[in-house]
Amino acid sequence: MNKIRIAVLVSGGGTNLQALIDAQAKGSLQSGEIALVVSNKPGAYALERAKRAGIETLTLTRTDCGSQEGFETALMEALDSRKIGLIVLAGFMSILSASFTGHYENRMINIHPSLIPSFCGKGYYGLRVHEAALAYGVKVTGATVHYVNEVPDGGKILLQKAVSVEPGDTPETLQRRVMEQAEWRILPEAAEMVSAKLLNDKENWI
Ligand code: GAR
Repeated sequence: MNKIRIAVLVSGGGTNLQALIDAQAKGSLQSGEIALVVSNKPGAYALERAKRAGIETLTLTRTDCGSQEGFETALMEALDSRKIGLIVLAGFMSILSASFTGHYENRMINIHPSLIPSFCGKGYYGLRVHEAALAYGVKVTGATVHYVNEVPDGGKILLQKAVSVEPGDTPETLQRRVMEQAEWRILPEAAEMVSAKLLNDKENWI
């Protein structure tokens, strides 16, 4: 069966990458295959997870590439030369330019650890999102998977899942609950949804 080649972009621990790897092993991610994992942070644990699963890895940093523009050019070259059809941002902590996001329109998705449009956009990433949710006092938070466009966390929403905030939560306990109950479920689900759609579009087009 034909599959969409997926690249996962990471910066940290890679638990969302792991959820994608597990979904692929289980067969719930079947319209796409993870062909490449790219980290912009040398030594990110996500790279170990990819290697363990036998997936090609690449580390690209802005410093090595000289600028954001150089980084994006090198990344685009790496993705396009490997015929990547779908890009999944899974804890990727860098904002991409409009020319980059435009090149992959409807072919790039991101997981964000809140119910967009709450606690999102520039400056809201990782634990900071949960700190902000607790400081605001919301009783329900969650996660969102959305297409990536030129507005940080601003692309069309694909899936969302709500998660309760419990009394006594710290940013760390809330982060863990949001990951377990929402992120690790909706990211593989969205990756399958979009891969199936891209595959279908491709087959109809050829
Ligand atoms: C996840 O909670 C992800 O949603 C978040 O960073 C964490 C990465 O964890 N992403 C953002 O905040 C992007 N704005 P992981 O490396 O274990 O998947």
